[in-house]
Amino acid sequence: MEAMSIKPVNPKMSLDYSYFINGLSSRRRPGITRELTKKLYNAPKETISLAEGMPNDGSFPFEAINVVLKDGSTFTLQGGELAASLQYLPSQGYPPLLKTLKEFTYFVHEPPNWQGTDVIITNGSQCGISKSIEMCIEEGVPILVQNPLYTGTEIVMKPYRPQLLPIEQDEFGVIPEHLVATLEDWKCQCSTDPTKKMPKIFYINPTAANPTGVTIPLDRKKEIYRICCDYNILILEDDAYYFMDFQDAKPVSFLSLDVEGRVLRFDSLSKVLASGLRLGWVTGPKQLITNIELHIQSAYLHSSSLSQSMVNNIFRQWGFEKMLQHFATVSNFYRVRRDIIIAAMEKHLKGLCDWSIPSGGMFVWIKVRNVPDVYEMLMTRGLKKHVCFAPGQAFMADPTVACNYIRAAYSRASPKQIDKAMRLLAELIREEQALLRRKLDNFI
Ligand SMILES: Cc1ncc(COP(=O)(O)O)c(C=O)c1O
Repeated sequence: MEAMSIKPVNPKMSLDYSYFINGLSSRRRPGITRELTKKLYNAPKETISLAEGMPNDGSFPFEAINVVLKDGSTFTLQGGELAASLQYLPSQGYPPLLKTLKEFTYFVHEPPNWQGTDVIITNGSQCGISKSIEMCIEEGVPILVQNPLYTGTEIVMKPYRPQLLPIEQDEFGVIPEHLVATLEDWKCQCSTDPTKKMPKIFYINPTAANPTGVTIPLDRKKEIYRICCDYNILILEDDAYYFMDFQDAKPVSFLSLDVEGRVLRFDSLSKVLASGLRLGWVTGPKQLITNIELHIQSAYLHSSSLSQSMVNNIFRQWGFEKMLQHFATVSNFYRVRRDIIIAAMEKHLKGLCDWSIPSGGMFVWIKVRNVPDVYEMLMTRGLKKHVCFAPGQAFMADPTVACNYIRAAYSRASPKQIDKAMRLLAELIREEQALLRRKLDNFI
C-alpha cells in the first residue's frame, strides 16, 4: 500500500455543526455495547471480554472463502481474517478498510481541511445520503437540490414533506446565478415571514450526474462553493460517478475545495467494483460523521463485514494506482457505450429529440420534441412494444408536473439492443406526435 503523508492543513474554520443537525438527530446517543465493540477491537490481546453479545465464530460453518479476480489475482479469507470477515464490527467500519479508505480519499482529493475530517463506511452511498439527509432535514427548512436530481435522494426527502428549492441546470450543471437568485428570493421571503427559514443543505451530484450525464466544471464548482460559504450551506456531494468521468482531466471535487469543512461527500464502489457489495463511504466533518455513526448503530449496526473484508483485500492486492487503473478501464467501457448510444440516437432520433453528450456515467438525458409529457407514451405504449426508458418525471423535484425528458441508460444493453431500442423510441415518438395532432384537430 502506498505510504501516505498527511499535509499540514489550513487552520480550521469554526463552523457550528449543531446548526445542521436537527432536533431528532441531536438526541442520538451511543449504544454502550457498540462503543465497547469499538474500544475492544484493538484492545491488547490479553483483554478478556465478556462484554459483547458476539456469537462464537468457531460455530460458523465456513472454512475458507477463495476469491478469484478476472485479472488472475486471488486471495483466501481464512483463520483470523475469515473470523473477522464474518463477525460483528464497529459501526464506523472494518478498521483496516477504514484506514485504507481514509488514505485513498486523501490520495485522490487532498482535502485542505483533513484534520477536521473523518470517514464512515456505509451500505452503498445511498445509505450515507439517506442518513445525512435524515440528520439535517427539519420541518419548515427548505432544501436546495439540483434539478433534475437522482430519484434515490428525492425519495428520502419526500416523506418529510420538505419544501424543495430546485436549482436549474444547463449543459455545465447547476447554474450559480440561479442558486444566488433562489437564495436571495428566499431571504426576502424570510424577512417578511418569520415562519420561513433559510435552507441549510444543498444536494449536488457533480460528476456525470444522474440523469443528465453532466460534470460541473471547476470554475463553476468554485463559484457554487463560495455561494454556499456566503449563505452557510452544507454541501451534500453525491459523487457516485466520480471515477466514471470521460474527460481527460480528473474532476476536482467539492471536498478538494473545502477549506471551511462544509462538505459531506458520498463515494460509491457500486459502479466501479460491484453494486451487490453495497459498499460506499462518507467523508466529512467529524461531528457530522459521528452523528451518522450513531444513526447506523441504531439502524443496522454496521455494513457487511464480508464485503468490507473483500474490498480491503482488493485494495491490498492492487494498491491505489492499480485500483484507479481498474476504475479507468471501467470508465472506458462506458465511454465506448456512450459513443454507441449517441450514434444510435443520431441515426434514429434526429429531428425528434435533442440531447447533449454525457461527459461520463451511464445515462443520456433526452428532450423529446412536440410531446409535452412522455409518461404514458413510455409506461403504457413503450412497455407494449417491449422497450423501456425512464420517464423524466422520476428525476424532477416536482414529479407531478408533465415532463418531456427521457433518461436512457447505456450500461447493460448490448450495442444491437441499444440500436433497436432507439428505433422503437423513434416509432413511439412519431406515433405519439400523430396522436396529439389528431387530438388537436378534433378539438379545433
Ligand atoms: C447519483 C447516485 N447517487 C447514489 C446512488 C446510490 O448508489 P449506491 O448506493 O449503490 O452506492 C446512485 C445509484 O444509482 C446514483 O445514481
